[in-house]
Amino acid sequence: MCPVERFNPHKTSALKFKRERERDGRSGRSVAIREVTLSEARSDALEFGLATDIFMQLKSGKEASLYIASWRGHPIVLKAYRFWHTSHASKKRGWFAPARMEALAAKEYDMLMAAFRAGMPVPTPIGRVANYLTMRFIGDGLVPAPRLKDMVIEKPESVFEQIVDDYLTMYSVAHYVHGDLSPYNLLWWRGKAWFIDMPQAYAVDTWCNMKRVIFLLERDIRNIVAYFEKYGLIANVEEIVDRFLGCYVPENQMRAVHLYWSKRSRP
Ligand SMILES: Nc1ncnc2c1ncn2[C@@H]1O[C@H](COP(=O)(O)OP(=O)(O)OP(=O)(O)O)[C@@H](O)[C@H]1O
Ligand SMILES: [Mg+2]
Repeated sequence: MCPVERFNPHKTSALKFKRERERDGRSGRSVAIREVTLSEARSDALEFGLATDIFMQLKSGKEASLYIASWRGHPIVLKAYRFWHTSHASKKRGWFAPARMEALAAKEYDMLMAAFRAGMPVPTPIGRVANYLTMRFIGDGLVPAPRLKDMVIEKPESVFEQIVDDYLTMYSVAHYVHGDLSPYNLLWWRGKAWFIDMPQAYAVDTWCNMKRVIFLLERDIRNIVAYFEKYGLIANVEEIVDRFLGCYVPENQMRAVHLYWSKRSRP
């Protein structure tokens, strides 16, 4: 995926400009990218026109730090991709790190947009520059919505159906599999589950590896089914996978699907 700048199409890469500036006359292809600090995130977000203020860090995950920010008084979320968490710094430092961070942010922005356009409950994507993206804040006031994992749901059956139906929309309308779906990446807000964290989503198209699609789909669905088992809900993963495959398979990928079915039917 080409990490094209959305705010200024004449700029090749805001991150490249920043890198050049930080290189500051030194030779070589690389410049060390540090852990993103709150003040750096704030100055970058303001400079890139992504936010008008940053309030606080929301979370520091595996590859990204998240901040509660604002756009003219409205809370939004700023996600900053960084290549490493401090402990792995020395091993992974390299010239390709910034490009990878930028590609991940671009991918997540594009995924959110595709899912949003398909009608899924996802944080509305707002903007993306370099390794930063902004999206709608899911929560009330400045209190973020809880993850599904931390909730006790009253009507598990209908929530389970909602999640499967919305995931089917992602698969059959937007033509993507999430690839990391679990109760950790679903937020509970306003009576439904909202899908987040999709930089690893995988396209289901003529050029895809359908074996990989089915593997990711099965794993995503198994995670959801396993979570709802604690509510006493029993669902068949293979039946759900078949429901998805019954809705959409790129024409040239049917062979891989038949192969999957034939392998599955063997004892
Ligand atoms: N739009 C949002 N509104 C409110 N909270 C959010 C939003 N996006 C993310 N969060 C919160 O931040 C956490 C981390 O977000 P996300 O999963 O996108 O990042 P991550 O780097 O992949 O984290 P992890 O490594 O834990 O998966 C989520 O679990 C959620 O609690
Ligand atoms: Mg996550």
